[in-house]
Amino acid sequence: KIIPVILSGGVGSRLWPLSRDYFPKQCFALVEEKHSLLQSTLLRLDGLTLEDPIVVCNENHRFLIAQQLQEIGVTQASIVLEPKGRNTAPAIALAALEAQHKNTDEALLLVLPADHVIRDEAAFESAIQQAAELAKNNALVTFGVQPTRPETGYGYIRSGADFAVVEFVEKPDEATAQAYLDSGDYLWNSGMFLFKAAAFLEELTTHSEDIANAVAAAYQARSEDMDFVRIDADAFAACPAESIDYAVMEPTKNAKVVPYAGDWSDIGAWDALYDYADKDADNNVLLGDVMAEGSNDCLVRSESRLVAAVGVSNLVIAETADAVLVMDKNNAQDVKKIVKRIQAEG
Ligand code: GDD
Ligand code: MG
Repeated sequence: KIIPVILSGGVGSRLWPLSRDYFPKQCFALVEEKHSLLQSTLLRLDGLTLEDPIVVCNENHRFLIAQQLQEIGVTQASIVLEPKGRNTAPAIALAALEAQHKNTDEALLLVLPADHVIRDEAAFESAIQQAAELAKNNALVTFGVQPTRPETGYGYIRSGADFAVVEFVEKPDEATAQAYLDSGDYLWNSGMFLFKAAAFLEELTTHSEDIANAVAAAYQARSEDMDFVRIDADAFAACPAESIDYAVMEPTKNAKVVPYAGDWSDIGAWDALYDYADKDADNNVLLGDVMAEGSNDCLVRSESRLVAAVGVSNLVIAETADAVLVMDKNNAQDVKKIVKRIQAEG
């Protein structure tokens, strides 16, 4: 038995003006027309036998998330609300406690970020089946992806015989990432995991006891509010903010890695969406009510009105009802600077 655990904590500020504090990127239909990233994350599991999912998200997003689950026929989810995110180790610990509370302790938690895209469902499912055998024996299993560039925002895994994790290095510096890539011995950590709730909590207690204790206290003091599980704000605020990668995956000796050879992408910024999407004959990605003339290598997306691009190249143009972004595609990381200024200047 598998319980999907969906991590839906981020806002995705590099996808401004689409993503907003109250409407995060995972709730948008970014790559598929009908479903949001969050919905696709659950829908792509339809070949597996699943328990009711656990979604961990910010309390500001509760109605939006509940509605999106309803839309795809998921009516029995646990929606665990964080007053303020403390990164993925606490979020996953909350899900593990919720699973134990629901008496599904022996089930396997399939931890999935809500903002990843995977098209190759068959390859993904077979990796999960393979991982399940290891997770049943109490391993913490991660899914490894073949690296294609010296990305410093990812975790790197050196694998050994029988799916062993010889080394797990989260977010190495550029030179190290390049060396790992050149060696051909490393996989990217995909950020998706499979393990028993008890196995995860045990490793968390061993390697980051302060997080385990703080989350236990915050979960204990929860209140149930309709279908929502509200975590105690003060107790949770006292929890160290740390990712599962640093808190557990780097130090644990109990990790395994299953290679996943299908497509996988983490749509973090506009250029990543461009890279992932299908392009037309001029290498443009045109989404919504959009026209292009003499333009190439652009991503143009419209939400609320006609947008036309003429004689331009390598631009991202993203239109929403109250804000328009026009950006050189090479500057995709700099959108954050605008978001920071909006927050500072009001
Ligand atoms: N509920 C909740 N609460 N979710 C969270 C929180 C939180 O406090 N923080 C992050 N998340 C969600 C994000 O929305 C995202 O879907 C996922 O957890 C991963 O968090 P990121 O912040 O995007 O992590 P990362 O990209 O820096 O690194 C992780 O993912 C990489 C692959 O995409 C690591 O696992 C890396 O090792 C990995 O390579
Ligand atoms: Mg990420």
